[in-house]
Amino acid sequence: MATETQHAINTMLLEERRYPPSDDFARQANAKADIYDRDWQELWETEGRERVTWFEPFSTVCEWEPPYAKWYVGGKLNVCFNCVDRHVDAGLGDKVAYHWEGEPEGDRRDLTYADLQREVTRFANVLKEVGVRKGTPVAIYMGMVPELPIAMLACTRLGAPHTVIFGGFSADSLSGRMNDMECEVLITQDEAWRRGTTVALKRTADEAMDAAPGVKRCLVVRRTGNDAPMREGRDAWYHDLAANASDDPQTCPCEPMDAEDLLFLMYTSGTTAKPKGIVHTTAGYLVGTSSTHRYIFDIKPESIYWCAADIGWITGHSYIVYGPLCNATTSVLYEGTPDFPDKDRWWSIIERYKVDILYTAPTAIRSHMKWGPEYAQKHDLSSLRLLGSVGEPINPEAWIWYREHIGGDRTPIVDTWWQTETGMILITPLPGVTTTKPGSATKPFPGVLAAVYDEQGQDVGPGGGGYLVLKRPWPAMLRGIYKDDERYRSTYWSKYDDVYFAGDGARIDEDGDFWLLGRVDDVMNVSGHRISTIEVESALVDHHDVAEAAVCSRKDATTGEAIVAYVTLKGGNEGSVEKLDELRNHVGKKIGPIAKPANIVFTPELPKTRSGKIMRRLLRDVAENRTLGDTTTLADPTVVDEIKERATSEKTED
Ligand code: WT7
Repeated sequence: MATETQHAINTMLLEERRYPPSDDFARQANAKADIYDRDWQELWETEGRERVTWFEPFSTVCEWEPPYAKWYVGGKLNVCFNCVDRHVDAGLGDKVAYHWEGEPEGDRRDLTYADLQREVTRFANVLKEVGVRKGTPVAIYMGMVPELPIAMLACTRLGAPHTVIFGGFSADSLSGRMNDMECEVLITQDEAWRRGTTVALKRTADEAMDAAPGVKRCLVVRRTGNDAPMREGRDAWYHDLAANASDDPQTCPCEPMDAEDLLFLMYTSGTTAKPKGIVHTTAGYLVGTSSTHRYIFDIKPESIYWCAADIGWITGHSYIVYGPLCNATTSVLYEGTPDFPDKDRWWSIIERYKVDILYTAPTAIRSHMKWGPEYAQKHDLSSLRLLGSVGEPINPEAWIWYREHIGGDRTPIVDTWWQTETGMILITPLPGVTTTKPGSATKPFPGVLAAVYDEQGQDVGPGGGGYLVLKRPWPAMLRGIYKDDERYRSTYWSKYDDVYFAGDGARIDEDGDFWLLGRVDDVMNVSGHRISTIEVESALVDHHDVAEAAVCSRKDATTGEAIVAYVTLKGGNEGSVEKLDELRNHVGKKIGPIAKPANIVFTPELPKTRSGKIMRRLLRDVAENRTLGDTTTLADPTVVDEIKERATSEKTED
């Protein structure tokens, strides 16, 4: 980490461009400079009252018994009521909640808040029919169809906690999560569209259910209309049951929930092979996401907002579903990839709906950069007034390209740092207040107390580099790792006393702006998705021909990081191109296509210390063609030369 950090710091010191907000933007912004002066408890108390409608008011804003926080203690509310019903009651029934755009061109559907209320009620009534009650854990494995947010909201209407599993995950990943959460019901769809071809979600779901016998019922939403295998007694087509289900909201009232009741689990990779079930609860999560959404994206009643993430990740939960709907926002929901049928698909969507706020990831921006600005130039993007970035550090070139070619050199950019665990954005510019710098996420959100610590737990202060920590609780923070108190404490709270350790390296400059430097643990970030080295290693050694595997990442111009695997085959066998494909596919099958290594290097030996620990640092040096660091602790120093030679002769790309 030391040399990488040094490199990043040097690069940043050269970055001197500054972008203050325009007077026009500043004047009309939801957040003004004085928001930073507010006391954190007062701010969250006020936000708690203003963003959310309570069935019963809360009595205490925050109870903090490290490492566990409770927010809005004593309050009763319902998330679906806040995201849907109350907007209809307030006369916003005709306002569009989602402009849905399917991947096949011309496949469109607008859902107003009144439509959403009817659809969610109907879905909730169907869920009741298959046995879902308050507290029943439900798994959702779907693509970006309107029924996905509808299913999530239906769960929250009943008080049933959900876990959404990204549609690109494998059967093993799905069953592992369903077993961990003890899900009783699974909602999926026949197939999903992806770049013009279909992905058989139900077939994968069947394989997963074979390994998750606790799942008693499966609802299948029809999307492509192709046949899907159905098991009598367990599986049902959603449309069959929906035909007899009422959509009258009176037939299915919103269940009053406690502020701290479980809302959902979101599984994410840590430093072991087993993903962690991150716990998010009801009130703090809703206040935190809606409030950050409103101030950071400067949401207006007439905004057409588009977060181009997948709902299967935390970004989609917080900033496609819960935050925006709580704010009665009109959003775009897009099913497909940015390059289908052509590379201007996103820009045509922005032009059609007159999107004014776009939120996406650096990896997507770099893909568009690679394809060239001509695709954006074909469309009128003048409706845009704000751009956002999330998922990994954004390199200044991509930042500038985004601003110039998409934002017409006019729009502010908010580079937002947060995590699955934080639930809401924590470090970010406020677009009407902050002078931005390409590559910096700038300042903690009002009420958030972040710092950069050295190894000993000292604040490094302006100009210093070290570990990013959070010194005070925030409303949408995780409430633990599901059924694993020990892992929760050791992962986030053991490095420093009563301070949250994020796992990221960071630097603070002389103005107090934060520069994120990437993970400091064995977690990789590929296209903004978190994958642990150990997870990929376990998937590789699961293959019958593999004796040993070590995984690390190298820098990649598009995906940020790319996965490199070093593999030793059993019986001293040499690798082959066929074996390479077989292993990549095996990882794809065990975890999901996103985890497939970009490179696999076959090697007779892995570099280990005398105590048998794999020296990942050296493998990273090899993967990035750097001069090797210290090799003196290696059991057999010649191993690295051998690997280096092989690494240069065997390269592959997806
Ligand atoms: C990790 C969290 C939060 C939604 C997407 C990812 C990295 C995220 C930024 C940013 C630099 C960032 C961090 C963080 N990250 N946003 N703006 N600048 N790094 O969620 O999968 O939980 O990953 O993503 O390393 O720890 P996630």
